[in-house]
Amino acid sequence: MTIATSLLDRLPTAIAVVSDTGRIEYSNRAFADTFGDDAEGWLKEAARVVAGERGWLQGFFLAADDQRTIDVEIEGSVFRVDKIMSTNDGADSRGVALAFEDVTQQRKAEQAKSDFTAQIVHDLRGPLSGIQGTLEFVLSQEGTKLDPMYTDLLQEAQRESERMMGLINELLDFSKIQSGNFIVEQESVRVAGLLKRAVRSLQSVAARDEVFLLSAHGRDIPQIIGSVEKLTQAIINLISNSLKFTPKKGLISVGAAIERNGDAPDAIVISVTDSGMGIKAVEIQQIFDKYKQSGTKSIRGGSGTGLGLYIVKQIVEAHGGEVSVASIEGVGTSMVLRLPVKRIATGTVPAMG
Ligand SMILES: Nc1ncnc2c1ncn2[C@@H]1O[C@H](COP(=O)(O)OP(=O)(O)O)[C@@H](O)[C@H]1O
Ligand SMILES: [Mg+2]
Repeated sequence: MTIATSLLDRLPTAIAVVSDTGRIEYSNRAFADTFGDDAEGWLKEAARVVAGERGWLQGFFLAADDQRTIDVEIEGSVFRVDKIMSTNDGADSRGVALAFEDVTQQRKAEQAKSDFTAQIVHDLRGPLSGIQGTLEFVLSQEGTKLDPMYTDLLQEAQRESERMMGLINELLDFSKIQSGNFIVEQESVRVAGLLKRAVRSLQSVAARDEVFLLSAHGRDIPQIIGSVEKLTQAIINLISNSLKFTPKKGLISVGAAIERNGDAPDAIVISVTDSGMGIKAVEIQQIFDKYKQSGTKSIRGGSGTGLGLYIVKQIVEAHGGEVSVASIEGVGTSMVLRLPVKRIATGTVPAMG
């Protein structure tokens, strides 16, 4: 026995060299301990579970990068399979060295953590909407003479509680996406109504900030299938961003148009365009990533979670659509959501880390 193989046998990590047909060319002791005699059977089953007919093993051979990882779940156990290296010596001896780690417990702990977070965040909404209702009520009492200073203070409190509600909703959506519980309903969605609702909910904020907020859409926009609530949320997220970065007397316009393929409507294109500060070219690639915020200071609204656009992207992709952005620094930003008309939305967003 060479030093190398006895060293590999001492490792706690299960390691195997697998050929592209799924044959195990080499395995260390930890691998034998983990999978026993039926390791090749496990690999076959894993290939079927993960990628159906094509097989994930092929993916390990095709991928140019050596950083491929995949989680395989079989009968309640989850294994993280890591490609360590390729061992392509020649055409007839193609192999990959894979490490297998049992992450079942880790996964369960993550799930429990995110369920807990979702519950807490959800519970925070109750008392906060109570506070909002109270402020709303007091401010709407026209007969009572309130010292202007108190009116200002109450309005400030109202504004801050709106911000807090926004943050809570983003965290709630985010934790649902993380845990895979982000279910997209399959209702018929009237896009014009969607725009109207989103604009209405932020109209008073826009008025207070002295920004023009308007919506316009073409005629006979066809319905799409999906979630009214989530799509409204996506548009609200975009308008709130625009409000944060658009100075007084600026303009935010929300629109919808039909994209046709011949005569048949192919997609609905929703856009939120502002005359705000814009986004730096170097930052634009990353703004849809989670926690990403640009270096540009917002005009108002303080700092956010950096999750808003990530959530928008997840919502749109769960509807089979795509998001894009065009922006010129100092001129403005346009966010575009393209939602296919015919396609039935997929059920859930897969959990991701
Ligand atoms: N309309 C916009 N104008 C300028 N910058 C924007 C606009 N929308 C988004 N951004 C930039 O993208 C970043 C990410 O946005 P988002 O994911 O909603 O996070 P957050 O609003 O919590 O900062 C923002 O911090 C901002 O830098
Ligand atoms: Mg935001």
